[in-house]
Amino acid sequence: MTEHIQIIGLQNIPKIKKGDNIAQIILETCKNQSFELQNLDIILIAQTIITKSLGRIRDLKKIEPSLEAQQLYEKVKPLAEEKRIPIKTPHLIQAILEESARVLKAEHVIITETKHGFICANAGIDKSNIEGETKIGLLPIDCDEEAQKICKKIKAVTRKQIAIIITDSFGRPFRRGAVGVALGVAGILPIKDQRGKKDLFGNILQSTIIGQGDNLAAAAQLIMGEADEGLPIIIIRGYRFKYDEDATISSLLRSSEEDIFRPSSTEFFRNILKKRRSYKLPFLQKEVPKKIIKNCIEMSRWAPSAHNSQPWRYLILEKDSMREQLIDEMNKKLECDLSKEGKSKTYIKRKIEKTRSQFLESPFLILLCLDTLALEEYSDEERNNNEYLLGLQGVSAAATYLLLSFEILGLSACWYCAPLFAKDIVKKVIRLPKHLDPMAFFTVGYGIESNVKTPFRKGVKDIIINI
Ligand SMILES: Cc1cc2nc3c(=O)[nH]c(=O)nc-3n(C[C@H](O)[C@H](O)[C@H](O)COP(=O)(O)O)c2cc1C
Repeated sequence: MTEHIQIIGLQNIPKIKKGDNIAQIILETCKNQSFELQNLDIILIAQTIITKSLGRIRDLKKIEPSLEAQQLYEKVKPLAEEKRIPIKTPHLIQAILEESARVLKAEHVIITETKHGFICANAGIDKSNIEGETKIGLLPIDCDEEAQKICKKIKAVTRKQIAIIITDSFGRPFRRGAVGVALGVAGILPIKDQRGKKDLFGNILQSTIIGQGDNLAAAAQLIMGEADEGLPIIIIRGYRFKYDEDATISSLLRSSEEDIFRPSSTEFFRNILKKRRSYKLPFLQKEVPKKIIKNCIEMSRWAPSAHNSQPWRYLILEKDSMREQLIDEMNKKLECDLSKEGKSKTYIKRKIEKTRSQFLESPFLILLCLDTLALEEYSDEERNNNEYLLGLQGVSAAATYLLLSFEILGLSACWYCAPLFAKDIVKKVIRLPKHLDPMAFFTVGYGIESNVKTPFRKGVKDIIINI
């Protein structure tokens, strides 16, 4: 006895438009071709036609890119150019973000977790097989529900148990080539649990779970095709499975806790904390949009501060004559201080050239001040001094948040104490109000070197004091 399955492409499916009833179209097409559906047939339907019937189409021209989309675009564009793959516009990236629960990787491609829990490129958004230059197709909101609706309607007419799988094709990690995957099911479980069954030698299978939904989708893909084959509905006949009214796609999706490849948010934050380095090398000659800097300052607002005083204030210094005058005057003081200390002329010259280039060539130079008006006033000096220290601690917390925000957004930065040693000069040149006390400079831009040497870190046992 032989066992075989058939993969049948349903011919002459009309072009699908918004509002079309896919179940009706399947039934009519079968009838016109005198093709009789049989019990336990599996109908595999390309997601694109479900998308079209639901009108899940967007026009890129009508999408307003957010700051996040713009930032992702800046990051992905040069990498895509390097790999010679199509560059996603900020509009398309915005659509991807709106369809995603989170972005997992943004390199030359953008891999996200969709709101359904699928992990795929571009949140499954399609430009192929969608009419119109600027139109894109989104995945159905609930693929199981669409499969269920079609399943019910077909069952009501044929009185047969017929399973439905809505399919798409996804690229994969580790292997080249897109393969068919199941997005939504009705009547058939997406996985077939073989655990507890015996293998050829009578051994009990401990962990074998077959992804039958994806296997069937991949088989259907052989004739459904990726390009213009135009067979969006495939019937698989002869595959033995247990009909299941309660099937949903969720059993196929591995949770992030079970997934050893998906970075957890804990891991992400650990990496950010460990990867941040003080960047003291030249910056790339690449424009940093000021709104990105403002976005990082916005994030630093969430730092803790004593009595929630939030005493931090920022001045964003652009590359202009004022910055130049400021650095020149600060350097004059530095020269004076170093001469007083008896440092050699060569040493002083080198030091001054270094600070000049560090502070003048940084795309942005941020001055962080302590606003003394935000501090509480006490009747005695000791408490006032302590309050000032609390203000400094708050400013330092904000500075740390700022550096971490830069790191998250792929910017390189360094914290410099120079303004603290030239407070009067900074106040005079920038005409700072009296209550703003200059505390630090931050140079920030895109770094040329991504692997800055990690300075020595003390061990945990060296910093926890046991009494
Ligand atoms: C309050 C403060 C002031 C700093 N001032 C300077 C500075 O004036 N010049 C400098 O080169 N680095 C400065 N740094 C950066 C330190 O050198 C750097 O944080 C340290 O070497 C550890 O390196 P990492 O930040 O890469 O871990 C400063 C850091 C802090 C927190």
